[in-house]
Amino acid sequence: MVEVPRLLVSLPPFHDTLEALVQGHSLKNAFTRLSNAYRQGESSAVLKERADYLAYAVARMPATYAVLETVLSEVAKRWPFKIKTFLDLGSGPGTAYWAADCEYYKAVERDVSFIRLAQELGVKGEWVQSSLESYAFTPVDLTLFSYVIAEIKEYENLVMRAYDATNVLVIVEPGTPAGFERIRLLRRQLIVQGAHILAPCPGEGECPMKEGNWCHFSKRLARSRLHRSIKGGDLGYEDEKYAYIVATKTPGFACRARILTHPHVSKARVSLPVCLGCTLQSITLKKTKLKWGDAFEALDSQPKE
Ligand SMILES: C[S@@+](CC[C@H](N)C(=O)[O-])C[C@H]1O[C@@H](n2cnc3c(N)ncnc32)[C@H](O)[C@@H]1O
Repeated sequence: MVEVPRLLVSLPPFHDTLEALVQGHSLKNAFTRLSNAYRQGESSAVLKERADYLAYAVARMPATYAVLETVLSEVAKRWPFKIKTFLDLGSGPGTAYWAADCEYYKAVERDVSFIRLAQELGVKGEWVQSSLESYAFTPVDLTLFSYVIAEIKEYENLVMRAYDATNVLVIVEPGTPAGFERIRLLRRQLIVQGAHILAPCPGEGECPMKEGNWCHFSKRLARSRLHRSIKGGDLGYEDEKYAYIVATKTPGFACRARILTHPHVSKARVSLPVCLGCTLQSITLKKTKLKWGDAFEALDSQPKE
């Protein structure tokens, strides 16, 4: 039996403002058009009308926010310094702002309609309307690429430039084989540059994922009435699959084992499929509250030198 994930029920902090902004708009057609375009491999460049941006925000912001909250809380747990300056690259509707715990939020985004929507939603910070490729990086504490890399043709060089100017680099991608492969490629290049991997990997060893398998995680979140109004369906929740990496310039508190899928629970035991860095293994316990994506804390290491 696979353990049922816990459900995130609280509404995101932008929910009420977004609900007010969509009043009077019919978003179902825009949502269907966008879903079809995304299924055919298009990017957010297909968004044109106000209804498209609102439909995108209603459909994507809650799941993205839930994932970013999880990933950034992992950073807070494992990185011993306060994040003062936060750089959100390809910020879209500013989803990351709501999950970020920082003193100064700066966003780089090429699409002015997204910048306006983020401001209407209440995001406060510094805005740079620019392509990421021509942005001149200045030093910050944390830099985020959230669901952006897939939209950038030559992302490797851009990511390395971002890494040069930050203490903590966070990259989040869809939890698909292609999303994971982008993360795996960037992970290798960051390690060559001397980066320390804070999460999800236990260290900097060669990734043990074999063909047909990919490292990804899942966040279950409740669907609000607003959410259901454009996405349809009967389920009261959705599972957002994501892949991510956190790379740092200096060592933090990396874990030694990471749980790679839902724990398998039987009468007498729970088995946890874990990554130990260079190898995959199954750990058996009598019982545990640990879930997919958690670090196996009993094996936590001290900061590595
Ligand atoms: C899928 S959305 C993700 C938005 C946001 N990061 C989030 O997670 O909610 C991708 C965003 O990246 C922006 N983007 C893509 N390529 C870009 C580029 N070359 N320069 C600047 N922004 C870019 C798009 O305009 C869009 O807002």
